[in-house]
This record gives sequence, structure tokens and C-alpha cells, in this order.
Amino acid sequence: MAESRLAKLAAHLTGRGSKAGFRVAVLGASGGIGQPLSLLLKKTSLVRELHLYDVKGTKGVMADLSHINTLTTVRSFEGNAELGACLKGCDLVVIPAGVPRKPGMTRDDLFKINASIVASLAAGVADSCPEAFVAIISNPVNSTVPIAAEVLKRKGCYNPARLFGVTSLDVVRANTFVGEASGTSPERMNVPVIGGHSGNTILPLLSQTTPRNSLPEDKVRALTNRIQNAGTEVVEAKAGTGSATLSMAAAAHRFAESCLRAMNGESGVVECAYVENKEPLSQGLPFFALPVRLNKSGVSGFAPLAALSPYEAQLFDSMKGALAGNIKKGQEFGRSFN
Ligand code: NAI
Repeated sequence: MAESRLAKLAAHLTGRGSKAGFRVAVLGASGGIGQPLSLLLKKTSLVRELHLYDVKGTKGVMADLSHINTLTTVRSFEGNAELGACLKGCDLVVIPAGVPRKPGMTRDDLFKINASIVASLAAGVADSCPEAFVAIISNPVNSTVPIAAEVLKRKGCYNPARLFGVTSLDVVRANTFVGEASGTSPERMNVPVIGGHSGNTILPLLSQTTPRNSLPEDKVRALTNRIQNAGTEVVEAKAGTGSATLSMAAAAHRFAESCLRAMNGESGVVECAYVENKEPLSQGLPFFALPVRLNKSGVSGFAPLAALSPYEAQLFDSMKGALAGNIKKGQEFGRSFN
């Protein structure tokens, strides 16, 4: 079926106002996160076209996904020569490209390999879809987002309202663990998670959950520690074969769909994400995860948070230096990348 007819049919069937759907690219689409994320996006009605990019393996993923009976069309692209064609006209670019952790590794240990991967993909975004929302999953997120910001700046198209580090998995995990501990359905629980995305830079605000919880202080401390180290739980259980992929795909899909709903004109869309901001709560850290309000243009503001509890304020103080260091490392790399 011709593309325009498919788009018209999609508009008719989804009944979603002005746009039939969006063009979304997944960079790193053949990987552990990329494949299940692409599956979820293929089944998302707001995705009109799904572009799969990787250095290898996307033809097979495309052939497989394209048999699923949804209106989303899927195209595959491989290798740097096809990056421009993949990104052209994209509304949203999701980036899970790069190596994951093995037992004993920190996210910062991935910097050496993933920094250049993210920098070169950000350069591709600048060249082919400078207006797109860009959602970075590749670790260390604390540094890869500042890297991408510097690359986009040097290309003259950095818009801080459209560059996100995906920290949704921290929220998803917190909702699960706190929901279970407090006898609330994890699907109803909402725990804001601020700060960064590694170890103690992950700061879940158990004092500000919706619905409220009445967990005792020792339980709050144990749960906070579990949320901060939940990635390592998965890395160790997978024993050298990778890190979180399925829960990450679900979390990234949640974030991507929220971006698309906001682009489609829906109001009231809020997601925690790691973005550049000058909010007082960030205490001078230029990149910081906060509950972000999304609209068609990207970040439109920040949802209000109450003051941190004394325990949370103490955790903030103890991680501030580490997060500042991660940000600086990313900025320096991004400025010197060519
Ligand atoms: P994986 O190794 O299974 O997949 C990565 C994919 O990236 C591979 O298919 C590989 O071919 C591809 N790739 C490598 N270089 C590329 C390039 N230059 N351009 C395009 N694709 C390229 O790894 P997995 O498990 O999918 O993890 C991906 C990243 O996501 C890792 O850095 C991991 O640490 C991170 N991650 C982030 C989380 C978060 O909460 N933000 C949670 C879990 C993982």
C-alpha cells in the first residue's frame, strides 16, 4: 500500500486529530534493548513509521517486526552510510546504542566506548533531523547527555527542551518496589526519581509518592538502596550476558509514548527525565533528572516538588560531587569530539 494511503488510513482509524502519527528512529535497534523496544513501538498507534538503525542485524529485525499486523511501517538501515537516510524527517530518536555493563562494572566504565558512539549519533541527528526529540538510553547517561548537548551545540542546533536522558527505568523500578512494600498496586504508584542515573546519583523521593505511603524510616532506607542498585541486581543475575533489557524497553517505551502524546497535543504529560535545567532543586548542577512537563515543543516546565526530607537532602549532598564530575567529563569529551 502506498505510504500516503497508509498514513490516511492510520489517521482515520486512530482518530487522533491533526497528525496520523510520527516517524520514530531507534538507534541500536538490533540490541538487547533495541529489539523489544522496537516491538513495543511497532504496536504503538502514534508511531506511523519506525526506522531501525544499527551497525548490524536490522534487516532481520525489520523482517520479523513487519509481519505484525499494525499500521506502523518498518524500515531498516545499517552502518554509518545509511544513518542520514534513517534520521531524515524523524520526530523522535531513541538511542540505546552501545555496550552494556558486565558484573563488577560501573556505568562510568562504559564511557570509553559509548561516548564516541553517542557523539557520532548526535552529530547524525544534527545533520538530518535537528528538530527531533532525542532520548538517550546509552550509559553512562550522566555523561552521554552532556556529550550530545555539546555536539548539538557545535552543530548550531542544540535545543535543551528536546534532549533527554531516559531515567524512566528508575521510576518504573521505584514504583514496583514501593508499591509492593506499601500494599499499593505498582501500576497506581508514582515515585518521583530525581538526580542522575547511576548508583547513588539516583535519588528516589519516597517522601513524595502518590498515593502517599507510611513506610517506616528503616524501610525507606532499604528501598532507596535497592532502587539505586537495582541495575546491578539484573547485571549480576544475567551473569555476564548483559544488563536490564526487557524492563528497560518497557520503561523507554513509556517515555517515548509520553513524548509522542505530548507532540500530538495532549496536555498534562509529565515524565521524570535527565535534562539541562536551572531549577533551584538542581542546586547548580546543569543536568539533572526532574519531573518534566512535556508539550509539542519539548520541555515546557517542571512539575512542582516539595522540599526533600532530611534523609533525601543528605543523600543529595553526598552525590552532588559525583554527578558534577560525570557531567563535566561528558561536556569535555563532547567539546573535543570531531
Ligand atoms: P546490546 O549490546 O545488547 O545492544 C547494543 C546495540 O548497539 C547492539 O546491537 C550494537 O550493534 C549497537 N551499536 C553499537 N555501536 C553502534 C553504533 N555506532 N551505532 C548504532 N548501533 C550501535 O546492549 P543493550 O543491553 O541493548 O544496552 C544498550 C545501552 O543501554 C548500554 O549502554 C546500557 O548500559 C544502556 N542501558 C541504559 C539503561 C537506562 O536506564 N538508561 C538501562 C539499561 C541499559
